[in-house]
Amino acid sequence: MALATKRVRKAVIPAAGLGTRFLPATKAIPKEMIPIVDIPMIQHIVEEAVRAGIEDVILITARNKEAIENHFDYNYELEDTLDKKQKKELADVSRAIAGMCNLISIRQKNPMGLGHAVLCAAPVVGDEPFAVLLGDDLIDSRVPCTRQLIEIQEREGASVVGVMEVPADEVSKYGIVGGRMLDSRTMHVERLVEKPAAKDAPSRFAIPGRYVLSPAIFQCLRETRPGKGGEIQLTDGLQLLAQREKLLAYQFDGTRYDTGDRLGFIDATLAFALRRPELAEGVRQMMKKHLAER
Ligand code: G1P
Repeated sequence: MALATKRVRKAVIPAAGLGTRFLPATKAIPKEMIPIVDIPMIQHIVEEAVRAGIEDVILITARNKEAIENHFDYNYELEDTLDKKQKKELADVSRAIAGMCNLISIRQKNPMGLGHAVLCAAPVVGDEPFAVLLGDDLIDSRVPCTRQLIEIQEREGASVVGVMEVPADEVSKYGIVGGRMLDSRTMHVERLVEKPAAKDAPSRFAIPGRYVLSPAIFQCLRETRPGKGGEIQLTDGLQLLAQREKLLAYQFDGTRYDTGDRLGFIDATLAFALRRPELAEGVRQMMKKHLAER
């Protein structure tokens, strides 16, 4: 069946990394469980997927990541205790997380790179287009970024990666796309390079961890040899996909936070806290106080 005729129902969320950029916080807990205000990063990502219409979330995990699975399950003891203490709203918050989606987890037994992590999902995804969301990238937008990409995928019957323009000195942090602009926001992708030096980058359009892909990517990943850092790179698999099928890049609407980076994490924390009515004024006062003291 053609790619366009199948609805995107599944999302793959790779969560097998060691989180070394966030040590010592990640020594005993998965980095995905670090909260932005009071919501674990992984929950923000799953919420984006669910708001985009995703039903099944395929989590690629590793050893010591059980806390993530527990977070998306019921916690009977906690919920029962909260009910008995007349804290029904809190009990409901806990239950709602478990009811959010079907969570299917697959262990990536060896850390062989992002492309390999996505390939681990092949038996569950099957022959359907699917989304990939990376957990270090938080994207704040009215229409979820993944939804924006799904709409293009449905209209064009093509795989699509979300992109944002970055300064030349930042291209080496991302997968970078190159190709022909079809309109002011959409590119027909012909080349992809993982973390190029500024002089080798085909453009300044970077992929901040949002993809809607044809299942043909799996065969491409099987054929992809280790690349940058000796790892099987998703970007290299996409280069092969672009040679076989139509691949688009879409400059999505939204603000992206790199929560895998300390400053990006603080940025996201402030932005999300200022949006919470019960916290905003307190945070504003606190910021004024700290800035005055420096
Ligand atoms: C990964 C991908 C890269 C992408 C980036 C987005 O790199 O390999 O192509 O642009 O995520 O955050 P990482 O940051 O995991 O090294």
